[in-house]
Amino acid sequence: MAGIVIIGAQWGDEGKGKIVDLLAEHGDLVIRFQGGNNAGHTIVRDDVKWKFHLIPSGILYPGLKCAIGNGVVIDPKVLTGELDDLRAKGIDLNGLRISANAHLIMPYHMLLDHAGEARLGKLQIGTTRRGIGPAYADKASRVGIRVQDLLDEKILRQKIQTALSVKNVLLRKIYHQRPIDKDVMTEATLRYAERIRPFIADTSLIVNRALDEGKVVLCEGAQATLLDLDHGTYPFVTSSNPIAAGACVGLGFGPTRIDAVLGVAKAYVTRVGAGGFPSEADPERGERIREQGAEYGTVTGRERRCGWLDLVALRYATRLNGFTQLAVTKLDVLSIFESIPVCTHYTLPDGTVTEDFPGHQSDFHHAQPVYTDLPGWNTDISHVRDAGQLPAAARDYLDFIEQQVGVPVAIVGIGQRRDQIITLRDVLAAA
Ligand code: GDP
Ligand code: IMO
Ligand code: MG
Repeated sequence: MAGIVIIGAQWGDEGKGKIVDLLAEHGDLVIRFQGGNNAGHTIVRDDVKWKFHLIPSGILYPGLKCAIGNGVVIDPKVLTGELDDLRAKGIDLNGLRISANAHLIMPYHMLLDHAGEARLGKLQIGTTRRGIGPAYADKASRVGIRVQDLLDEKILRQKIQTALSVKNVLLRKIYHQRPIDKDVMTEATLRYAERIRPFIADTSLIVNRALDEGKVVLCEGAQATLLDLDHGTYPFVTSSNPIAAGACVGLGFGPTRIDAVLGVAKAYVTRVGAGGFPSEADPERGERIREQGAEYGTVTGRERRCGWLDLVALRYATRLNGFTQLAVTKLDVLSIFESIPVCTHYTLPDGTVTEDFPGHQSDFHHAQPVYTDLPGWNTDISHVRDAGQLPAAARDYLDFIEQQVGVPVAIVGIGQRRDQIITLRDVLAAA
């Protein structure tokens, strides 16, 4: 049995898609467990760029099974669009399954996400405006519409009517928007239903059976640890639990099924949207990282805020997820710097210097980073395939991370392409 969870260790966009694609070569099932199309996972193969929002990043392997678990929120329009796109490119979708228990993102969720952010004004979270928060809110309020409701027209009509009786009041009275026509929305949803129907399944059964049979199951995290609803930098977080424990809930298996937790961290840090970011770089060097690392959002095209590796946050992510190994991506991007600051501690407003992530939001928001300057290597490393060929300073940088965080680095990313990777330890063998 090998249940491997792949988790974003920072604020997202660490390169999870690429790592999942890499491991999927030896996997049997790749399954998403939370989030929705707020995720944008990029894979570059033979210089062709693929961007996945809902479909698991293992889909490019013919015959490999892929699934979307119950914890994911699914926008039927985005899902069918992604399916059409992949089909048109000749990708085999026969192995894809979608949980009957996953919740749907409906058009009013997107409208409410937009309107809610606009209303927050300066205090806005900077969401992807994909309706994620409102969809999860409805799930928790027990008024959500699920994938299995697509299978029964009568139930679907009834649920849409019930939902709209409240949402339309909100849209009209609070947000001064036009109400949604019940019939138009129901007909559109039914058209999507026909196309989604063949994929609907009990994915908890599928994943548990696969584990029983000793298959390699890769659980693909979206978003990241510091965007976790419970443990992230609330309220500047997403509305799901992207940490490893989220895989149990979002897939329907027990914690004892997880054999390895791979944390994916950039060699530096980026953040999209609002919220604290102690190790954010000064504008000049932030811009250099952004240009070198092409740090623009996969979903919204927004500039990603860029900063230095934050080991306080990475230790916290290790605590929350129990990482067994790390993948450090985009090390190549740091090749332009003579010396590289790494944040090892925070100084809190009361003067305390700590290596632990602050428990209180005000401490976090006012935390000052304490940096150690590590020597840069200042040479192109994107062609390196063997750790022995890495410049000593680059190896020292990785050693420093291991020693500070106490987790071995298994994979190092040194470019966008699939082959631009250095394997230090075998992730699957360790699981
Ligand atoms: P994800 O959301 O975690 O899957 O990450 P994204 O796909 O949103 O963003 C990561 C970006 O970095 C993508 O454009 C990847 O192609 C790219 N990338 C991944 N690993 C590396 C790497 O090691 N070096 C470089 N230069 N780019 C990488
Ligand atoms: P991947 O899987 C980076 C951020 C948004 C915003 C906050 C809440 O590609 O790493 P939401 O739309 O989820 O309600 O927005 O979370 N965010 C991400 N940032 N990568 C992501 O996904 C993200 N998904 C959401 O920018 O700050
Ligand atoms: Mg992304």
